Amino acid sequence: MGIGIPELESPPAGWKRKHLLGLEDLSAEEITTILDTAEVFRRLLLEGRRRIPLLEGKTCVNLFFENSTRTRTSFALAARRLGADMVDFSAATSSLSKGETVVDTAKNLEAMGIEAVIVRHSTPGTPHLLAQHLRCSVINAGDGPHEHPTQGLLDILTIRQRFGRIEGLTVALVGDIAYSRTARSDIWGLKKLGAHVIVCGPSTLVSPRWAELGVEYCYSLDEILPRVDVLNLLRIQFERQLTRPFPSVREYAHLYGMNRERLARTKPSVLVIAPGPINRGVEVSPDVADGPHSAILTQVTNGVAVRMAVLWLLICGGKE
Ligand code: NCD
Repeated sequence: MGIGIPELESPPAGWKRKHLLGLEDLSAEEITTILDTAEVFRRLLLEGRRRIPLLEGKTCVNLFFENSTRTRTSFALAARRLGADMVDFSAATSSLSKGETVVDTAKNLEAMGIEAVIVRHSTPGTPHLLAQHLRCSVINAGDGPHEHPTQGLLDILTIRQRFGRIEGLTVALVGDIAYSRTARSDIWGLKKLGAHVIVCGPSTLVSPRWAELGVEYCYSLDEILPRVDVLNLLRIQFERQLTRPFPSVREYAHLYGMNRERLARTKPSVLVIAPGPINRGVEVSPDVADGPHSAILTQVTNGVAVRMAVLWLLICGGKE
């Protein structure tokens, strides 16, 4: 359906992808296509457009087995702004408690006629499993500590807006590299677009094996501060850890918390981002989180545009 916006007449001819399971699978060209499309949607949203009916008559399902504020709402808004219906599935009140498998649950939802399922689950690989069994598009909204591709994309979009490029930038991911799915998606996406990535945190959460993928690893935040362009402050994922990776939260905040004093030792142009939820006073102090270097809420705004781009490209362009 034409809506009078040349860039949105139809998905680019080369676009074939039907599922978004992780940024590890995407080429630099595909990532750039999503970012460029998201920019078009962002522009329209900023102009005050609330209805861009490219998915009129389509239905999406939010299938979340883990808590979420931003991602779930953002997908729901993205679908609605595109004119699609959005159904919110609640794991707590579903037949899963009666013994139904995740695949059977998803197949039943698909049998009602849907075009996309957006899934978050604590088990890595759940979206990949669904993609094998469903005919509709499957979007990974976080599979355990593995990937969270739309978060990676909105992080990269936010960085690209600020610097006009990704290539040549030094981006530090600080904190829980072991358990953060945002970390993995950021690493794949940023590396493909030519950034230098540093993973930084306590040695219990940062493996030297990241070096095998061309990522620098470091245990001292103070050491890298002067040379980073972007700091992505990751939450410590206590809910995924069997044992505490450091003696106390206070000690973590002392060594890795981003605060005014540390900010003074960065480049004046440094960009501070965080996937959220943020723990004020742990990974970031309130003055930095709310200060001029922070783009934490811009990321949330960008999230809607990125998810509109992903839904439109996968549903209208997917051929696999
Ligand atoms: C993240 C998540 O759930 O993976 N948040 C998000 O989706 N914006 C990160 C986190 O929980 O720390």
